[in-house]
Amino acid sequence: MCGIIGIIGKKNACKIALNVLKNLEYRGYDSAGLAYAQNKKLHTLKAIGKLKELYSKYEIIENEVKNVTLAIGHTRWATHGKVVIENTHPILSENIAVVHNGIIENHDNIRSQLKNKNVVFETSTDTEVIPHLLSVSIKNKNNFFNACISVINKIEGAYAFAAIESSKNEIFVARKTSPLVLGLGDGFNIVGSDAQSISHLVSEVIYLNDGDYAVLTESEIQIFASDNNKVEREKINIKSNINFLNKDGFRHFMEKEIHEQPNVLINTIGSLIKEEKDLNIFPEKMNIKNNYGITLCAAGTSHYAAMIGKYWIERFSSIPVNVELSSEYRYRSPAASMYSSMIVISQSGESIDTLMAMREAKRLNLTTTVITNVENSSIDREADYSIYTHVGPEVGVASTKSFTSQLIILLSLAMKLAFNNNKISIKKYLDFIKSLKLIPSFLSKILSLNENFMNLAQAIKNSHNILYLGRGILYPIALEGALKLKELSYIHSEGFAAGEMKHGPIALIEDGLPIIMFLASDGMEEKSISNLQEAIARGGKVFVISDEKNFGKISFIENKVLIPSFQGNWNDIFSPIFMSIPAQLIAYHVARERGTDVDQPRNLAKSVTVE
Ligand code: F6R
Repeated sequence: MCGIIGIIGKKNACKIALNVLKNLEYRGYDSAGLAYAQNKKLHTLKAIGKLKELYSKYEIIENEVKNVTLAIGHTRWATHGKVVIENTHPILSENIAVVHNGIIENHDNIRSQLKNKNVVFETSTDTEVIPHLLSVSIKNKNNFFNACISVINKIEGAYAFAAIESSKNEIFVARKTSPLVLGLGDGFNIVGSDAQSISHLVSEVIYLNDGDYAVLTESEIQIFASDNNKVEREKINIKSNINFLNKDGFRHFMEKEIHEQPNVLINTIGSLIKEEKDLNIFPEKMNIKNNYGITLCAAGTSHYAAMIGKYWIERFSSIPVNVELSSEYRYRSPAASMYSSMIVISQSGESIDTLMAMREAKRLNLTTTVITNVENSSIDREADYSIYTHVGPEVGVASTKSFTSQLIILLSLAMKLAFNNNKISIKKYLDFIKSLKLIPSFLSKILSLNENFMNLAQAIKNSHNILYLGRGILYPIALEGALKLKELSYIHSEGFAAGEMKHGPIALIEDGLPIIMFLASDGMEEKSISNLQEAIARGGKVFVISDEKNFGKISFIENKVLIPSFQGNWNDIFSPIFMSIPAQLIAYHVARERGTDVDQPRNLAKSVTVE
């Protein structure tokens, strides 16, 4: 993770870099720093904690640095070395400063070699080998540019870095796997970890290809491919989205993003529907074939979307679906001959585990598709085919609106496959398309139950352990509810398939343990209700979020929130989309009550670009 920025050729470079770092804070918020060149001397400014700490330090020197035109900056998600000032980037060696995102996997080896040359290390970071290698190379009479190339040839791993040398009016940047975007300004140039962060400054960007490196001066950008040949990369016009950091009157971005689902999912659904008669989903482009299976692969919340996708695709189209965790797929030597297509799901399009899994699938000759929210993200650029969720930037670290949009796309894919395979009639297919359009307004109805979830949150906020249960298609929602709660409130919570309780987890139940069940009206509710009885008999404090149709069956349960039933025949099928809202609201309100940092929970980052 970590966010990096470099700017050259514009006055107030430090302030501009700070403002870009604000946009990149989602990538890490353990500490932040700047390095800038003034009168051919290098200076740094660093602070532990959120970016506001660095802003405070900057205010003290603001007047002195107004004329600075060359700066690099970094917001850190610690991997190597504790969160202390020494380990805060930029990392220096003599008159060289480096900001780095990713991991230098052979840093131990390089460190030993450099120590043998009497180089003294001052940080515990893997990054520090880069500036030292540069210094040593320059002492050996290489110029800065050649020294940078020699470093790229030595370091291994996934990285993006920017380096400056105090006497040179240039920024050297390189990327391998981790993202890096160059922005072409009027009389200045800039580099950042994503396009969004610099979109208020430039209207044209260049995405570096994997393995590219580049030199930025105020008037020119030169790009080289990994074979050292100079290359031109496509310039892309971007729209500025400066409002993405606006909370619109909500207390937190997460709260805003939960409540804006009815609005933004209209975009997702709009992009899927073709003249009310068909869906803009093309299984042939994804190389989905009836006698082969599909692998769905993702991490975290996106992985739970994949699990639900499996239920839908297998149920409606009978095409076998294999669900994989991205972090496992790459290294477990998967047997892929039964599969023709891999669909990866990634909100950010940057999760390195998912990127690597997708590369592995390509190596195994699978056609790759990504469902993502971020156009031109690393995964988007490498996938054979992309489907965008179109829900706008998601700033809160916990995924909310992107999850529901991923579900809508997966369900639409399932229905398209079912229709293509004659598993559903044209009537049912058209009815699905019509019903899809009703989801946003229906979600507003569920959101209007907000107070009920606030009350539920009050009742559980002081618990140390909480269980979530769901059956069938709501089992992944139990997993998602537990993940949301633990990441936001730091309460230990686990999700289980209701039917699995008796196979072990029931041993956890003691007097007063909160158990939250998501209950659909899918013909399986009696079995789930029996599981609840078993929990109550052992002292569990049960809370049920249920389809209102189950009202009579759960009258004995004191703590319940009834979700209105969706019109027509789609209630049970759409239930994971509907039940996502309570899962999100419960976690949000518990976290808010406990006073944790809702938008930037401890130890997390929005874009997970390290393995
Ligand atoms: C949880 C959450 C994470 C992400 C996971 C994958 O709220 O947001 O679990 O879902 O890190 O991220 P993407 O979808 O960007 O690949």
